[in-house]
Amino acid sequence: MVNPKLDLLQDYPFARLAKLIADLTPPADKKPIIMSIGEPQLNPPAFVPEILQREALGWGRYPAPSGTPELRQAIADWLTRRYALPAGTVSADRHVFPVAGSREALFHTALAVVPEQKGGGRPVVLAPNPFYQVYIGAGAMAGAETKLLECTRQSAFLPDLDAVDEATWQRTALVYICTPANPQGAVASLDYLIHALDLCRKHDAVLAVDECYAEIYRDQKPAGGMEAAKALKAPGEIFANLLVFHSLSKRSSAPGLRSGFVAGDARLIELLNRLRSYGGASVPAPIMAASTALWRDEKHVEDVRAHYNECFDIAAQFLHNRFAFYKPAGGFFLWLDVGDSEAAARKLWGEAAVKVVPGLYLAKGEGENNPGRRYIRVALVHDIETTREAMRRMADVL
Ligand SMILES: Cc1ncc(COP(=O)(O)O)c(C=O)c1O
Repeated sequence: MVNPKLDLLQDYPFARLAKLIADLTPPADKKPIIMSIGEPQLNPPAFVPEILQREALGWGRYPAPSGTPELRQAIADWLTRRYALPAGTVSADRHVFPVAGSREALFHTALAVVPEQKGGGRPVVLAPNPFYQVYIGAGAMAGAETKLLECTRQSAFLPDLDAVDEATWQRTALVYICTPANPQGAVASLDYLIHALDLCRKHDAVLAVDECYAEIYRDQKPAGGMEAAKALKAPGEIFANLLVFHSLSKRSSAPGLRSGFVAGDARLIELLNRLRSYGGASVPAPIMAASTALWRDEKHVEDVRAHYNECFDIAAQFLHNRFAFYKPAGGFFLWLDVGDSEAAARKLWGEAAVKVVPGLYLAKGEGENNPGRRYIRVALVHDIETTREAMRRMADVL
């Protein structure tokens, strides 16, 4: 027996990439440089292993499913500082929920909020195209019709929500927005987020803002969904219809910690809590202790941000006048217009031992209708020397 909805999930981009380059052997004199996966190669701060060691007895206990009060408070305080919210706006108990990485929370959200029917038909989940794969998988498994909104250079790489017709809005249950966006690094303005939240409220839909790259930016702090909620001033629940998703994976270079949070509308947090008590993984107690310290520390985040900015400077030196190069406002990916994304990925692996993802695999659509087809995504996640070497090889080979 197989759930037929699984057929809707295309192979993950990394599996498709492995097939694409299976017949190639990278040059023996070049050390492979993996820039396909967005996995920070910096170390998390030294206090992380210290805390994990100190809290080791916690491995012998079941963790609190909705997190420790200390962690929830550290997150509420961080949100308040980061988005300049009035003191007391974010309730650590009602608005914040620690999760084992933002991915699972993004996925569970669709299961928690998509009804059987909406607006007289099958519910719709709106998502950007290209997209972080989980939005599509979540929509499919929740039984929704996933409608993709093309993000191109012309749309500033953000979905055009005004292009969605009224009949579709009536059926829309959930809207995923990613800012800074993976893969293009586009950042939604505060006005964009206000408009998106307003549209979702008018149509009784949930706005899920994936902000897991919020701390990786060039000069200007990206706006956040909670600032949009503050500006709209709903009576009653200030975060009505809104969920935001954050992670320590990128901010603190700790993807292996599996620690993030979802925050927002108290009723939605309660629904997620209920769903997760059946199928969610709690964050282990030692990891919650380390996470509490990470959300309370900004010094290491400033260092992380400075590091990525240096990586982009290096990329600019080598690529500035090629492949429609631009420094994205946020995130740590290059999104390069190479013409044929699969051919470029094969060439880079076969001739330069640099692994990147074809944009084709990060988007949906046949032929010309696939907005990723011309691009490769390059994760600038290495140390400075490796980054320089990778950029040199890319400039030589492509
Ligand atoms: C856009 C986006 N959202 C969410 C995630 C999930 O991150 P994590 O589960 O490590 O918090 C990622 C990870 O690559 C991502 O790129």
